[in-house]
Amino acid sequence: MYLQNILLCLIASLVLSTCNRVYVHPFNLFAYNKSECEHIQTQNDTIEKTFLPIPIETEITSEEKIWKVKTYQGKYHFGYLESFLTSLINDLGLRAFEALKGIHTSNTILLPSANFYWSMVSFYLGASGETAISLQKLLGFEHPSGSTSCTSQVNGLKIISKLKTIDSALFSKNGSISVWKTVSIFVSPGVPLSENFIHDLGPSADHLYTRAVNFTDSATSVHLVNEFLDTRLPKKTKSGLTSFDEASNVMYISHVYYKGKVAKSFLIPELQQFWIEPNRQISVPMISASGIFQFKDDSIQNQLVVKIYLGENDFLLLILPTNGNTIENIESSITSYNWQTLNWLNGLSNRYIHLSIPKLEIECSYDAKDILTYMKLSSLLQKTSHFGKLSNEQINIGKILNIVHFELEDSGENEANHIPEKNKGQEPLEVNVNKPFILVFFEGTTKALILLGRIVNPLTII
Ligand SMILES: *[C@@H]1O[C@H](CO)[C@@H](O)[C@H](O)[C@H]1NC(C)=O
Ligand SMILES: *[C@@H]1O[C@H](CO)[C@@H](O)[C@H](O)[C@H]1NC(C)=O
Ligand SMILES: *[C@@H]1O[C@H](CO)[C@@H](O)[C@H](O)[C@H]1NC(C)=O
Ligand SMILES: *[C@@H]1O[C@H](CO)[C@@H](O)[C@H](O)[C@H]1NC(C)=O
Repeated sequence: MYLQNILLCLIASLVLSTCNRVYVHPFNLFAYNKSECEHIQTQNDTIEKTFLPIPIETEITSEEKIWKVKTYQGKYHFGYLESFLTSLINDLGLRAFEALKGIHTSNTILLPSANFYWSMVSFYLGASGETAISLQKLLGFEHPSGSTSCTSQVNGLKIISKLKTIDSALFSKNGSISVWKTVSIFVSPGVPLSENFIHDLGPSADHLYTRAVNFTDSATSVHLVNEFLDTRLPKKTKSGLTSFDEASNVMYISHVYYKGKVAKSFLIPELQQFWIEPNRQISVPMISASGIFQFKDDSIQNQLVVKIYLGENDFLLLILPTNGNTIENIESSITSYNWQTLNWLNGLSNRYIHLSIPKLEIECSYDAKDILTYMKLSSLLQKTSHFGKLSNEQINIGKILNIVHFELEDSGENEANHIPEKNKGQEPLEVNVNKPFILVFFEGTTKALILLGRIVNPLTII
């Protein structure tokens, strides 16, 4: 859709001059230009400098143990390159979500969509030959003519720099959302990594670690890796590594942590009922908030959409089935659309609402290779794949874990002082989120999908 719009605009500009600047297809702005390609051709396909990651057992420095929540100030510029990239992130996110709901049929799932894209871009940076071409296609950068010449290949660094703009926008809030991002790359002892590769990956996290660990001694190494992660994360992870892929020699673990607060809300003193299934309930802590929310009662799709701001402009969408509709039905409608045609954000209007929503603490861990296998793309990352920019040894990629930890809290309002805003005498609409729902977390400026989930149990660790 998006490409078509751009082409239409291009044609229109030629015929009617309605676009008053020369429109370059975003693809070409991500691709290598002629002079970059000439430079690449003079270089040999060898890595200039490599290093051997230090063993995981090596004493950690005190400096590494410190963590803080990043709060950047200032404005970030968003242009059509960021919007183009957002549509690619969101499209891949919807495809990955479809895979996850196929793998985890009835449980809570929470896909760290933008971070899944980051992990695939990271492997694209290390890939060469056919593997690079296939990964580029997965990322949504398919050249309109199908050409694979150098100028039809995208420069991973250009993608990284735009992804970083989206991340920075998310981090730029003054303390209302806590974000924490870690990437760790583990290799077998003696496997060298390209210095350039690791350097280029730098922007992908607040902290990037590389360590050597014995892949054939699974029991000991699993323990070492989880201990390693626990000393570097804001909260101990319960869904860390469970086993090694012993035939592999590289493993990638990314961990993202988000904590947001519902503005002007308080925690209801008593536990409340939440219906995990039509005839199975549990008691959970609930948050209450009254005020004006953007809202849509969609009687065609039989769903309610409520928008909850977390901080300045990042927001959650809650999508709840109504009129006997089911969560499964909403899910199939999500994945039967692509990002451009999904109309969650259209037609929302202000409504005075009395909202009750469970306090959430959800942690999920997914192996991106399982997602790719479900998408029938397991051939992308197999023994014979080419990762000539990652190492000069034969690379066999093992697990690619995407761990996500998400918490939603009240803002600590005192219930007694909590006087609901009046809205021209309008009665509040009661929205009680006490059944499974779809949760979407957006970066507010670009509308990049940060999280996409089906919440069956508000307190889930898997
Ligand atoms: C090609 O890209 C490089 C940076 O990646 C830039 O410095 C150079 O000006 C570009 N060349 C052309 C002809 O656009
Ligand atoms: C590239 O490889 C060729 C032969 O394989 C060699 O003669 C040449 O010096 C190499 N160039 C660079 C820049 O390493
Ligand atoms: C964040 O900053 C804006 C102004 O830049 C201010 O209006 C808002 O109250 C601040 N929010 C918090 C949570 O400090
Ligand atoms: C890795 O562990 C295996 C099994 O314990 C052991 O035989 C092997 O020597 C270890 N390799 C290294 C490099 O330590």
